[in-house]
Amino acid sequence: MQETLADKINKRRTFAIISHPDAGKTTITEQLLLYSGAIRQAGTVKAKGKKSNKFAKSDWMDVEKERGISVTSSVMQVDYDGYQVNIVDTPGHEDFSEDTYRTLMAVDAAVMVIDSGKGIEPQTKRLFEVASHRGIPIFTFMNKLDRDGLEPLDLVAELEEVLGIDAYPMNWPMGMGMNLLGLYDLYNQRVELRGKGEDEAEVYIDLDENGEVAGDYDFKESSIYTQAMEDAQLLHEAGNDFDRERIAAGQLTPVFFGSALTGFGVQTFLDAFVDLAPSPKPTVTADDRLIEPTDDQFTGFVFKIQANMNPAHRDRIAFIRICSGEFEKGMNVTLDRTGKTLRLAHTTQFMADTREEATEAVAGDIIGLYDTGTIQIGDTIYSGKPAVTFPPLPQFTPELFMKVTPKNVMKQKSFHKGMAQLVQEGAIQVYRTYHTEDYILGAVGQLQFEIFQHRLLHEYNAEVEMTPMGSKIARWIDPEDLDPKMSSSRNLLVKDLEDRPVFLFENTFAENWFKDKHPDIELTSLL
Ligand code: G4P
Repeated sequence: MQETLADKINKRRTFAIISHPDAGKTTITEQLLLYSGAIRQAGTVKAKGKKSNKFAKSDWMDVEKERGISVTSSVMQVDYDGYQVNIVDTPGHEDFSEDTYRTLMAVDAAVMVIDSGKGIEPQTKRLFEVASHRGIPIFTFMNKLDRDGLEPLDLVAELEEVLGIDAYPMNWPMGMGMNLLGLYDLYNQRVELRGKGEDEAEVYIDLDENGEVAGDYDFKESSIYTQAMEDAQLLHEAGNDFDRERIAAGQLTPVFFGSALTGFGVQTFLDAFVDLAPSPKPTVTADDRLIEPTDDQFTGFVFKIQANMNPAHRDRIAFIRICSGEFEKGMNVTLDRTGKTLRLAHTTQFMADTREEATEAVAGDIIGLYDTGTIQIGDTIYSGKPAVTFPPLPQFTPELFMKVTPKNVMKQKSFHKGMAQLVQEGAIQVYRTYHTEDYILGAVGQLQFEIFQHRLLHEYNAEVEMTPMGSKIARWIDPEDLDPKMSSSRNLLVKDLEDRPVFLFENTFAENWFKDKHPDIELTSLL
């Protein structure tokens, strides 16, 4: 039987992994690739990512490799158990929270990986807040169970207290570290034993109606087993109820225990995840219309632009989340911002180890469009009629500023080109002063500047001088209100890319002083 558009969309699972650096995001991604058959050997993602540019994983750029952090968001599509799973990677470093924020706009669920030896770490909390703000379901994977970590009860309590979300343990560890026996799995009504090889019958043992393992097994004598059973049953009686609707609304997080490194508990997690995570939902337009994913009309929005992903090709890719309909190669769409027609001829899909020309993509999928500079972050594209505009993507108000000047006046052209292209990626914002047209960069985190400078040099051959201006408070005003006399050394007047006037205040004192002096002027910020 022919698969309908609805059938295809129902099998889409598009999610992001959020975690503090080193919690195990890469390792668990790799396990997913392994189970889906996309790779054959563990270690492939990291090894290839680090040693060559061949693997389309996170480590695209030199800066990332040098610093050992993942800066950009990558996308991977794999087939897992009949589901089309799209993983959108998020940068772990806090300087990239804006990028992460936008990435989370393009997914339907988040997987939160926590190092069970460390519990909730600062970046887990920040990313959780962003995901939670989106109201998407959040699945928790307590990782590194092969090591001694915090008490499982404490981990779950911390999750609830620090993050303020209700938790529902899907399974419960029977011991940990050297003493890890397995998982007591009430959700699947079974015990999953560790280290029993390939034979499923030896790994999974069903529970009887009393929640006990039926039959004679040595491990039943162990206090670790009885303790886990008691803890899990206590939690199920006294804790939160399993509730699919609350999971879908992001109010209850299912918690899984396991070890990404050894693969233990990963398949159990993935199976439950594809079952419980939502397929693509309707998208709301700027004028409050609901676009159903199964609509015939193709719609999507650009959540990320990445220049020069492959240094050999100097390409620039716009990442599009498809919101409705089905992609067809060569189709014509309208770019909402300009009203111009765009042919989707050079597109790509991000498979596990390669980039391939996009062939079949439907709502929920992410495609890359090779672009020469017409597309911006937040752009909506749609086929046919009526016109569709999705709401603008959130932008953070930058807090740090740098003056930037080219070192070599002979290379002005590449400097301007690099500035224009890198700014469109959205990680950094650019302002010009009114008279001298000097460039000022604004960012949320310091690392953005370093990467910007590095990329200008390596990708555009433009060496720049960066002069720190420190932190400032950026406030926009209505152009009609503008009076150059309002500017002083404590509130530098600049204009943004769209020529809107912006004051960069020295501090809150300067801002308040301005407000007192000009009570009728409205000062606005971004997010
Ligand atoms: P990240 O992407 O979230 O930053 O974390 P990543 O997967 O790179 O994992 C960070 C470190 O934690 C790696 O060790 C990895 O092997 C280890 N790790 C991940 N999952 C587990 C687990 O379940 N158990 C244990 N014991 N370790 C785990 P590394 O030494 O920093 O890197 P590597 O050289 O081993 O690759």
